[in-house]
Amino acid sequence: MRTALTNPFSPGSDTVPDVWAGRTEHLGDWRDVVRPRRLAGLPERGRTILGEPGLGKSALVRRIAAEASRAGDWVTPQLRIPAGSDPLKLVARAVLDLAGQAGLPAARESRIATALARVEAVAVSGLSLTLRGAEGAEPFSALTDLLVEVGRAALEDGRVVALIHVDEVQNITNDKALSQLLIALGDALTYETEVAVPGGARVRRSLPLAVYLTGLPDFEDMAGTRKGATFARRFKTSTLSAIDVDALSEALQEFVLRGWEVAGEDGPGRVWMEPEAAALIAEVCRGEPFLFQLAGEQAWYAGSSSTVTEDDVRRGWRNAEREATAHVERVLERLPGRERQLLEVMAGLPAGDRSLTRIAEGMGFTRVSEAGPTAQRLDTVRGIIDRGRPYTFRHRAVEAYLTSDWPRL
Ligand SMILES: Nc1ncnc2c1ncn2[C@@H]1O[C@H](COP(=O)(O)OP(=O)(O)OP(=O)(O)O)[C@@H](O)[C@H]1O
Ligand SMILES: [Mg+2]
Repeated sequence: MRTALTNPFSPGSDTVPDVWAGRTEHLGDWRDVVRPRRLAGLPERGRTILGEPGLGKSALVRRIAAEASRAGDWVTPQLRIPAGSDPLKLVARAVLDLAGQAGLPAARESRIATALARVEAVAVSGLSLTLRGAEGAEPFSALTDLLVEVGRAALEDGRVVALIHVDEVQNITNDKALSQLLIALGDALTYETEVAVPGGARVRRSLPLAVYLTGLPDFEDMAGTRKGATFARRFKTSTLSAIDVDALSEALQEFVLRGWEVAGEDGPGRVWMEPEAAALIAEVCRGEPFLFQLAGEQAWYAGSSSTVTEDDVRRGWRNAEREATAHVERVLERLPGRERQLLEVMAGLPAGDRSLTRIAEGMGFTRVSEAGPTAQRLDTVRGIIDRGRPYTFRHRAVEAYLTSDWPRL
């Protein structure tokens, strides 16, 4: 029963895993805030979800998009921006596709036909259109206009929201392209149209459009400093951190209580999990969704009976150790030297002594304030530490790696 085909764990990236844990705040934000407010014509900012590699940014918004799609909403696929590419082309193509979902190509208004044609040109030429284009014909304005048309069509329908998901936004390294993209999306989000209300009055309302941007925390610097206040007013940023043990355990409860349904050779069957096995998976992955999937996958393969045992988890994890190490090293290697040094010094101190004073001392600074900016970045931008009293690690896998034998059990 426990085969590669029935294994519900999926450590690969860019999927929505069957065994889902936590992120309830973000899912609730979409269900209870973003979607209903945009549908009701109320202003609501776009969302930017950032986080260190493997924390589940793409999976989270893919899941939101899948949910939206099931509800009948018009959604773009996850638009992954490859490094160094022209994001405008990709987004233009996706907005054309949204327009298709909205039925715009069949519309008779010449305004709409023009908007479609202009975005077709952006999809072909991207940013370079700006250079050739006349005043007012910049790519962003074409994109905004078509998005507004998509929004109007959604408004007319009355039940749907159009959702755009741009992923790997940190790869948009061309300033001009980034600015055009953020303005196009931001302008569409803040656009207001007039509608008639009973009694004949006319009121202004926002369109049912929603935007999610996902990527590495480095994007915060790019968009934050270059685009400044405008970006912050139009997009609300949150940084993902590790998933807590309770949420991970809860995700495995189905295996423990009811058994996970799988298709067997002679009809469907169930795979169970010892409570100790579930607890160990939830603990050993240190809140990293990628490692959670990896631990589950390997435990599944470690035996063939209909119950995943604690011993299966142990033996499975042995096969995962190298990847677990590599995962954390990838996170650490991406960090600028100072940030990495701060983490190492912090890890070297006894947990109760992790104050900025002691850390600055350990880093060789004469003044405490010199370590301040680095600590601040690791907290607010990256979500790796928490500057409480004392400082603590939010990235529990980084902590475990730096302070113990982990990933060894
Ligand atoms: N909420 C979750 N519950 C369980 N598993 C999850 C969850 N979110 C993500 N995962 C798993 O974690 C792994 C990493 O997810 P994902 O690719 O979305 O991360 P990411 O933050 O986009 O990473 P990257 O920065 O590399 O793009 C995937 O295997 C995914 O299935
Ligand atoms: Mg991703």
